[in-house]
Amino acid sequence: CEGAAVLPRPPVVTVMGHVDHGKTSLLDALRSTSVAAREAGGITQHIGAFVVKMPSGASITFLDTPGHAAFSAMRARGAAITDLVVLVVAADDGVMPQTIEAIAHAKDANVPIVVAINKCDKPAADPERVKVQLASEGLPLEEMGGDIQVIEVSAKSKSGLDNLEEALLLQAEMMELKARIDGPAQAYVVEARLDRGRGPLATAIVKAGTLVCGQHIVVGAEWGRIRAIRDTAGKLREDATPAMPVEIEGLKGLPMAGDDITAVESEERAKMLSAGRKKKLEKDRLLKIDEGKEVSPDPLED
Ligand code: GTP
Ligand code: NA
Ligand code: MG
Repeated sequence: CEGAAVLPRPPVVTVMGHVDHGKTSLLDALRSTSVAAREAGGITQHIGAFVVKMPSGASITFLDTPGHAAFSAMRARGAAITDLVVLVVAADDGVMPQTIEAIAHAKDANVPIVVAINKCDKPAADPERVKVQLASEGLPLEEMGGDIQVIEVSAKSKSGLDNLEEALLLQAEMMELKARIDGPAQAYVVEARLDRGRGPLATAIVKAGTLVCGQHIVVGAEWGRIRAIRDTAGKLREDATPAMPVEIEGLKGLPMAGDDITAVESEERAKMLSAGRKKKLEKDRLLKIDEGKEVSPDPLED
């Protein structure tokens, strides 16, 4: 796009780490909410996306994950919407299997890590031990001469949050994140769900350009026309610009996390692209059955 405005944009930060190390609690503390307390069994079951307005006035888009599964699905589809990973490690538990997997995912995707050692309020907290563990997992920590920032925090007592915010903004600043605002959107699905009244809903993040209400879109192998765009607080919007998580209504089918969103000029074109992609998916599936990788569906089933 010639002459299109390229402007600074907020960072998209994915929070990763072992189960129950306090990812959701830390986000709650940063934005003064209590999502973790409302979760069934205290377990995060989907990806949450929020914009947190920092006391400094800067905003950061956070993705809360239930572990690493969703993040790897996105990575596999090449949807590099994450600029930065906050690796949450509980100070009492230390490095655990999913901590190691999160490190591997971040490294594979070439995404910088900021470590938050959480639960430092606990009597059994031992942040120094955690640092030694992280170093032996191959993380070059700043205080050991490397470049990875480590911040000691407590989501419970809310200590260290200023330092974490500062570390994230510093890291983001070094990355000089910018995006084209005008023109067709390049966007990705973070998660999708079926709502009884509103139909398929996709939480999406725009990487470049602008998504506009009324546009015909192809989302992965699905298609539709944007009927409504809402911000994460549920407020209706006319459009969505880079790094802003939004919920999109108006799809004909349910897309998958990591699917790309493309705006097209007509319903006809959207349908055609969707049909082509569905055909390709089906072909790939049959190929897998042929190779014995997938069990053929029971022919009597339908
Ligand atoms: P999953 O999403 O299920 O992987 O867990 P999570 O990493 O989001 O952890 P969550 O925020 O659900 O917290 C797990 C438990 O640790 C909860 O009981 C929290 O109250 C507790 N917790 C989280 N942060 C802290 C902290 O800083 N200090 C203490 N003492 N407890 C904490
Ligand atoms: Na939990
Ligand atoms: Mg959680």
